[in-house]
Amino acid sequence: MGLLRRAWQTIQNISREEFEKRLEKRRRKPSTTSHRWEINTTEGRHIGWVDYYRLDVQAGHAYIGICLPEKDTWGKGYGTEALSLLIDYLLREMGLKEVKTATWTGNKRMVRCARKCGFKEITRRPHRAKFSIRGEPLERIEFSITRSEWLARGDGGT
Ligand SMILES: CC(C)(COP(=O)(O)OP(=O)(O)OC[C@H]1O[C@@H](n2cnc3c(N)ncnc32)[C@H](O)[C@@H]1OP(=O)(O)O)[C@@H](O)C(=O)NCCC(=O)NCCS
Repeated sequence: MGLLRRAWQTIQNISREEFEKRLEKRRRKPSTTSHRWEINTTEGRHIGWVDYYRLDVQAGHAYIGICLPEKDTWGKGYGTEALSLLIDYLLREMGLKEVKTATWTGNKRMVRCARKCGFKEITRRPHRAKFSIRGEPLERIEFSITRSEWLARGDGGT
């Protein structure tokens, strides 16, 4: 989602020198508030990635994101399965209290996927851009799931 979030913003050109400088900075000081995992099918096909970002250990929460770039992988349950594994890891293994995710109203697949994972909508605000390229009104939706909600799910979360 990090990449997509940036894609929605106006693209700022940077010089090769500036790009190398930023890359080097990132290499020297890896982020402690974000982490990304790649998603492979059981047959070994690489289909995308999930990540957490804005991790706040003190407060016990983080945001999560997902991207399956290729259309032929959509609608097969991969997104829900990958996000569920990540939520489970964050809430059980890392001991966070709450996991959040955000998308926009036009991303119906992601909205449905988030709901299937047990996320509940907590806020809805106007998006930076008022309308999508299809002319639909845009709103930013934020979802949340707490550890107790996750553990209370009939299937134990996963
Ligand atoms: C969004 C994304 C992660 C979802 O993953 P996925 O594997 O396609 O999702 P799933 O198959 O687990 O679930 C998708 C659900 O949305 C439903 N859906 C698909 N298109 C829909 C539409 N236009 N309207 C309503 N529901 C729709 C599917 O039917 C399915 O629900 P169901 O299981 O009840 O039938 C994936 O499609 C993706 O990475 N897309 C591109 C990048 C992106 O949008 N990332 C998220 C940015 S916030």
